[in-house]
Amino acid sequence: MTVTSNLTRREMSQHAYEHLLFHFARNGDFGSDGDGLIVLSRGEGPYVFDIEGERYFDALSSLFCAQIGYSYGEEMAAAATSQFSELAFNTNWGTAHPPAIELATRLAGLAPGELNKVFFTSGGSESVEAAWKIVRQYHLANGQPERMKVIARSRAFHGVTLGALALTGVPTFKEPFGDPAIPTRHVSWTNQFRSVRSLSGTALTGALLAEIEDVIEEEGTETVAAIIAEPVQNAGGCLTPPPGYWQGLREIADRHGIVLIADEVITAFGRLGHWFGSERYEVEPDVITVAKGLTSAYLPMGAVLVADRIAQPLYEQGRTLLHGITFGGHPVAASVALKNIEIFQRDNVLENVLALEPFLQARLSELLDVPIVADVRGAGFFWAFELCSDDRGTRFSPEQRERLLRQFLPRRLRESHLIARADDRGDAVLQIAPPLISDRRQLDDMAGTLESVLRDASRFMHVRG
Ligand SMILES: Cc1ncc(COP(=O)(O)O)c(C=O)c1O
Repeated sequence: MTVTSNLTRREMSQHAYEHLLFHFARNGDFGSDGDGLIVLSRGEGPYVFDIEGERYFDALSSLFCAQIGYSYGEEMAAAATSQFSELAFNTNWGTAHPPAIELATRLAGLAPGELNKVFFTSGGSESVEAAWKIVRQYHLANGQPERMKVIARSRAFHGVTLGALALTGVPTFKEPFGDPAIPTRHVSWTNQFRSVRSLSGTALTGALLAEIEDVIEEEGTETVAAIIAEPVQNAGGCLTPPPGYWQGLREIADRHGIVLIADEVITAFGRLGHWFGSERYEVEPDVITVAKGLTSAYLPMGAVLVADRIAQPLYEQGRTLLHGITFGGHPVAASVALKNIEIFQRDNVLENVLALEPFLQARLSELLDVPIVADVRGAGFFWAFELCSDDRGTRFSPEQRERLLRQFLPRRLRESHLIARADDRGDAVLQIAPPLISDRRQLDDMAGTLESVLRDASRFMHVRG
């Protein structure tokens, strides 16, 4: 069947309903009449347009990807076209090509400390799995084959392919698919709004780190391969670390011979105002996983950045890296990633985030006046509102969350021409992550729209101030 672009929205929706399986969505919800579906066909700056020309502010950057927004298509296309005419494809399987070599060199230069080796993938889940395999080979080469286990954090999302899924801490995503491929223990997240034993600051840090120590002791130090964590955890709503948390993870990992992995699939490439979120928290992980913002999603690509020390055994005589992905390091994607980095530097993308973060934080914090908003948290251009049924932080029931997060908010956001994420991991959260090129006026407008949506949500859910 040929797809023609002159279909009406209703026809598009019908075709989608008949043929397109949506990811992490209730496929039946969109209905054959296609009423619930937004079909996007164009982008410009931080905005996307549907096929009827309606404009939406993309306050989610197309799932935390569109760092530089949507107006660099021609420049990206020129980089891609030039690479297509030179060498459309070849692999990193024992041969190499200039874009992959140049990109690996650029990333090594941008990454903190000794993270000088780069393994390319096609996306985030692949990066997480590749990271674990590289870590395993490190331990095997060091004569520690029993180091298999990973410590991850509860409710964290690290991807859905079977290895990455084992590290993901969301039981409903895992249970249908059998035993986890990687033995994993999940420890408490860094939720400071609903913190462990209501602790805060360094007392909370101490409790969280003590829990990790206890888990390591229970499992046996000699069996733990890695600790994996996001600098700011996405799932649960932009959970920033309490003071000294990352330094504590670093110290624990060093003391026990455990590899520290920062999963930066969301937090790298400016989301927190730095190339890597780890920089913001002044930690040097052993391994960093990236994807999404590496190309600002102009093409799919991911990478694993590995410290020299961890990669060293892979350079020993006769040892093979037992992992490979056909499209990892695709030359056209690598050219686009290089262009993305060039644009970041030329157009001061990181500087924009750092300059506007105080304004964004202050503007969003004003929404704490809205009855349903119990907490506003985040960093950089990565923020969440926790929504509660009263000012004591009482959670909505599952039925209320269904009405609020799956019915009211998606509809009301759509009417307001704002794309944001209403998320339900037990706590009701509304998340935003605008493109990093958004200016002050656009962020201000976004906050104004959010305020009116959330005031309506307060009334809808009968929450009083
Ligand atoms: C922190 C983190 N790790 C891994 C992944 C998986 O990435 P992908 O969907 O590209 O496989 C995601 C996806 O959102 C993520 O947020």
